Amino acid sequence: MEKEQIRSLIKTAVAQLAYAYTPYSHFKVGAALLAEDGRVYTGCNIENAAYGPSNCAERTAFFKAVSEGVRQFRAICIVGGPEGVLTGLTPPCGVCRQVMMEFCSPESFEIILATGEEDYKVYLLKELLPFGFGPGNLSDGGQA
Ligand code: THU
Repeated sequence: MEKEQIRSLIKTAVAQLAYAYTPYSHFKVGAALLAEDGRVYTGCNIENAAYGPSNCAERTAFFKAVSEGVRQFRAICIVGGPEGVLTGLTPPCGVCRQVMMEFCSPESFEIILATGEEDYKVYLLKELLPFGFGPGNLSDGGQA
């Protein structure tokens, strides 16, 4: 992916920090999900007084896209930190990695973790979720 496109995704993800609803953890996360068709779906984390119903920024972005009929994706950028201060990289939780596994190719889907427009790392889904269980395992008896 080109540097300019990465920068633009980082900028969009950072902008979502303003919408993160985090009265409990105070840890704000923003995401920008790039679909195959070039559209970008945004997300923030949304917490809940009952804790369990809280939703991560990444899944917010995925579910927004999928609920609009979009199921093919190229990359996601994730940023986060205490009170929205980007002190370090925010890797996606295990549940979010599994949601990525449902809709994205482990070989090509890129996960951009950033603390700023000039400071980021890019991973493939297969690096963050090795030997993941996905739709292929159900359709081909686990040979995928
Ligand atoms: N969080 C995300 O939004 N994405 C992740 O992958 C890591 C965790 C959120 C969930 C919760 O609102 C807060 O960060 C602290 O765990």
